[in-house]
Amino acid sequence: MEVLRSVVILLHIVGFAVTFGAWVAEAAAARLRTTRLMDYGLLLSLLTGLALAAPWPAGIALNYPKIGIKMAILIVLGGLLGMGNARQRRTGHAVPRPMFYAVGALAFTAAAVAVVW
Ligand code: HEM
Repeated sequence: MEVLRSVVILLHIVGFAVTFGAWVAEAAAARLRTTRLMDYGLLLSLLTGLALAAPWPAGIALNYPKIGIKMAILIVLGGLLGMGNARQRRTGHAVPRPMFYAVGALAFTAAAVAVVW
């Protein structure tokens, strides 16, 4: 069970890596667009995060305020990505700069909360 939990945590981190990596790639290429890859990474973080939010194996202590804050950040991120993707489809242009930077800052903040708290 401990090994399974470790594997799910690994996948959870891969989800973050995909979202943030896709964001860095867009920033580095100066495209400033939200992409499907960011959505997929976030979905992976959400599904694995929910699985990890259940207290297994028995006896494990979880930090629920921390999990709640990450969940809130993830919901805002999902909203921004949803709005960004829809806007890009509609207008054909990249998302507004503050929206693009908010996506990266929020993903980074969620990882910082996870690791530093
Ligand atoms: C973008 C959003 C998220 C990021 C970047 C993120 C990042 C991380 C990272 C780096 C870890 C490993 C470090 C640690 O164990 O503390 C982790 C663990 C964990 N995350 Fe997340 N997370 C996110 C969203 C979520 C969500 C939405 C949930 C739950 C609904 C969640 C629940 C958990 C749990 C339960 C653990 C394991 C903590 C433990 O077993 O001690 N995470 N997360």
